[in-house]
Amino acid sequence: MKRAIIIGATSGLGREIALNLLHTGWLVGIAGRREDLLKEIALSSEFEGRVEYERIDVTTADAIDAVERLVSKLGDIDLFVNVSGVGFQNPTLDPSIEKKTFDVNGYGFMRMVDWAYNYFKGKKRKGQIAIVSSIAGTKPLGTAAAYSATKRMQSHYLTALSQLARMDAVDIQFTDIRPGFAATDILNPNKHYPMMMTKEYAGYLATRAILQKKRVAIIDWKFALLTFFWSLIPRCVWERLTFVKN
Ligand SMILES: NC(=O)c1ccc[n+]([C@@H]2O[C@H](COP(=O)([O-])OP(=O)(O)OC[C@H]3O[C@@H](n4cnc5c(N)ncnc54)[C@H](OP(=O)(O)O)[C@@H]3O)[C@@H](O)[C@H]2O)c1
Repeated sequence: MKRAIIIGATSGLGREIALNLLHTGWLVGIAGRREDLLKEIALSSEFEGRVEYERIDVTTADAIDAVERLVSKLGDIDLFVNVSGVGFQNPTLDPSIEKKTFDVNGYGFMRMVDWAYNYFKGKKRKGQIAIVSSIAGTKPLGTAAAYSATKRMQSHYLTALSQLARMDAVDIQFTDIRPGFAATDILNPNKHYPMMMTKEYAGYLATRAILQKKRVAIIDWKFALLTFFWSLIPRCVWERLTFVKN
C-alpha cells in the first residue's frame, strides 16, 4: 500500500487531496493545526485503519518532531505533499501580515520540504515531493506582495531541490501544483474572483497531477491559458496594470 503525508490537510485543497488519495486506497498521514478537523477525517469509518494524524504548526521548530512521529505511525512514506499556506490581501503593507505570510509560506515551507528531501536522501529510496504553490508565483499582484513573493520562492525552491537531487543522485520526483482561484477558506468570501473553481474540482486535478508525477501543473486549463498570456506581458506594462483593491 502506498503511503503519503499531507501537510495542511485540515481544509481546502489539502483536505481534498488527502480524501482523493484515501479513496484511491493509500495510507495517509494528515497534519495541520486544527486537530478537530484532523480527527474528523481520521475517525471516518470509510477510511478505518488508513489515516494517521498529528497536529503540526509548520512555523514552530518542533514541527519536525511531529512530522517524524507521523512517519513512524505510517512506517515509511512514498509521497510528501506540502499544501499548508496562508494568503492575504495587504495593500497597506501591514508588517505583521507580511511576516505571517513569510513565516508559513517561507520558513514553514522550507522546514517541511527540506525535511522531506533529507528523508528520501537518507533512506536512499525513490520518493516524491509535491507542493501547492500558486499562479501568483508566475506574476506578482500589487495587493498581495508577500503572498506573490513567497509563492514564487516556493516554485524556485523546488527547482533548486530538483537540481540538487540530480547532483546527490537521489531519485526524487518533484511536483509543483499552481492553482488559480479555488473556493476555499483562503479567499475572501465577500469578493468576486474570476474563473473560480470548486475546491473538489481543483483538488481532483491536483491529485491527478501528483499521481501522474507531473513536474509542474497549472490548475486548471483556463488558468494555464491565462498564465501563458500574462507571461508575454513585459514588466513595464505589468507594473502599470491596476487590480481592484479589497
Ligand atoms: N484557494 C485558492 O484559490 C488557491 C490558489 C492558489 C494557491 N493556493 C494554495 O493552496 C494551499 C492551500 O490553501 P487552500 O486554498 O486550500 O486554503 P485553506 O482551506 O485555508 O487551507 C490552508 C491549509 O494550510 C494549513 N495551514 C495554514 N497555516 C499553517 C501552519 N502554520 N501550520 C500548518 N498548517 C497550516 C491550514 O491548516 P490549519 O489552519 O488547520 O493549520 C489548512 O489546512 C495554500 O498554500 C494556498 O496558497 C490556493
